[in-house]
Amino acid sequence: MSGYDQTKAKGPGPQEFYENTKARIQKIQSHLANSPRGTRLKGKVCIITGVGSLKGIGRASALLFAHEGAKHLYLVDFDSTNLPDLKATVERLYPDIKATTIQGDAADEELISGACERALKEEGRLDVFFANAGIATRNPLEGTTSESFMNVMRINSLSCFLAIKYGSAAMKSTNASRGKTISGGSIIMTASVAGLRSGAGTIDYSASKAAVNSMAKTATYQLQKTGIRVNSICPGLIETGMTTDTFDYARKRGADAKIGQLNPLGRFGVPEEIAQAALFLASDDSSYVNGQNIAVDGGLSSSHPVIPGRWA
Ligand SMILES: NC(=O)c1ccc[n+]([C@@H]2O[C@H](COP(=O)([O-])OP(=O)(O)OC[C@H]3O[C@@H](n4cnc5c(N)ncnc54)[C@H](O)[C@@H]3O)[C@@H](O)[C@H]2O)c1
Repeated sequence: MSGYDQTKAKGPGPQEFYENTKARIQKIQSHLANSPRGTRLKGKVCIITGVGSLKGIGRASALLFAHEGAKHLYLVDFDSTNLPDLKATVERLYPDIKATTIQGDAADEELISGACERALKEEGRLDVFFANAGIATRNPLEGTTSESFMNVMRINSLSCFLAIKYGSAAMKSTNASRGKTISGGSIIMTASVAGLRSGAGTIDYSASKAAVNSMAKTATYQLQKTGIRVNSICPGLIETGMTTDTFDYARKRGADAKIGQLNPLGRFGVPEEIAQAALFLASDDSSYVNGQNIAVDGGLSSSHPVIPGRWA
């Protein structure tokens, strides 16, 4: 007898595991309600794009940034439907935080340069640009046209280029009266595990996110010695507006317990978990993290393809 408990090594059965997952996610999503206000972004002026979706990464990040004391949030989305609610929610929960909503396209040069100029004019500084807006596509290769390909590149990649170009110019600007005496800031972009390797998205979406990952690396050298850091986040499967159809379909088929089973954590992620990575990168906690593509994917991208349970 070795005394080795096989039952424990195998872990809980599928139903118990799924119940544990739901409890885990409920705890993660109640973080803001149950945690005291923080100061990790105290005094920082931030732009976030793609904040309009009620279940999105952008909105979760805006609320977390406010919770952590960001001075002024400039919140951009081309869909204006939920912008008033986001502004009202920030102001109700965090009356000391300024929230300005801007309806427009994150890939529009004038809009992005204008948002950066506005931050400088109103606050005298820009510290964080979280370029998060993006769209997904579903078309297989034969249904992908030159126009649809370029549209995805425009929204997902060009938007990040503009964030780097105009965000960094604004971040170089100093203003002693507003407490910024040296150039610096953090540019964060939402890429995807689809931008790391194949198997997580269509050809145009994956190419557009690979471009974002590349820009995170290239921009750091273009911006060397400015104190401006550039990184991308590569989410795995996250339950947001973008993936609602996938989750609804699985739930309708009674397959909800199987969602996300391909990564070693064995579950999908929620927007609040990506927001925490964005908060880390936005804050001075990550002051030496630069030029990285950080996967937040439950471990999905850490492995070659493996049959679930194979090495368990
Ligand atoms: N959900 C996932 O599983 C997942 C995985 C990897 C990467 N991502 C990326 O995360 C980012 C956020 O997406 P989400 O999952 O929160 O989806 P979402 O659809 O819930 O939110 C995306 C938001 O971006 C906005 N948007 C789209 N194009 C825009 C544009 N041109 N200008 C301004 N706003 C625009 C939409 O209106 C929406 O509010 C995207 O870049 C997406 O590609 C998501």
